Amino acid sequence: MTNINMIFVANWKMHGNFNDISKVKTVLNLIKNKKYKKIKIIYCPPFTLIKSFSNYFNNTKLNIGAQNCYYKSDYGPYTGNVNAKLIKSAGAKYIILGHSENRNEGETDLLINQKIKSVLKEKLSIIFCIGETIDEKKKKITFQVLKRQISKGLKGIKNTNKIIIAYEPVWSIGSGIVPSRNELEKNIKKIKKILKQFKFKNSVKILYGGSVNSKNANEISKIDGIGGLLVGGASLNSKKFIDIIKKTSN
Ligand code: 13P
Repeated sequence: MTNINMIFVANWKMHGNFNDISKVKTVLNLIKNKKYKKIKIIYCPPFTLIKSFSNYFNNTKLNIGAQNCYYKSDYGPYTGNVNAKLIKSAGAKYIILGHSENRNEGETDLLINQKIKSVLKEKLSIIFCIGETIDEKKKKITFQVLKRQISKGLKGIKNTNKIIIAYEPVWSIGSGIVPSRNELEKNIKKIKKILKQFKFKNSVKILYGGSVNSKNANEISKIDGIGGLLVGGASLNSKKFIDIIKKTSN
């Protein structure tokens, strides 16, 4: 049965302008329905729209997040950077970290760990992305990769109450290809095993991300251990995002 406490994260990446914000109201209208009472929606627009989003959706069921942050937690002479403190003051409560599009630009496990700590200092929540590349999958080293990303990313973190893990196989992002049910089940089990090995709580939520759409959302969401979806492309269009939520809640 589908989990009624599902989390749906909209990662707008480097898209969106001011006029797009009001279009998200249809998503809010949907989740006002009792049927969707327990689901959580988190919109992660670009930095430039966070304040407008949080003003527009102030005191509603729609949560706002950022897509990354600078690793230093204090204000300072860091031209062009935005840290968790600034993000918090703009009204966001979540920050996506470790996204493969940033790892791909040189973000290391160590840097992600520093960012996670800086976000926890501000008492914000983290959507911590992990996932293997196609080469790593072909080399059959997915378990080792996930283990490295989790152990180094969460090094020194005792309390995982504010951490949500997003499993995003890099080869699935934006490609239209999703892992088979069997592969996804196995990889979610691997993540759970790693969390256990490092004594992280069993209750840490695990989301799936990568080419989620209204056709595959239902099947993915039914996989044991998946607590939500991290949606890129399809979240830019409210109708498509609504379709995903509806399909997942059937
Ligand atoms: P797509 O849904 O566009 O594949 O993107 C997934 C993603 O990277 C979300 O963080």
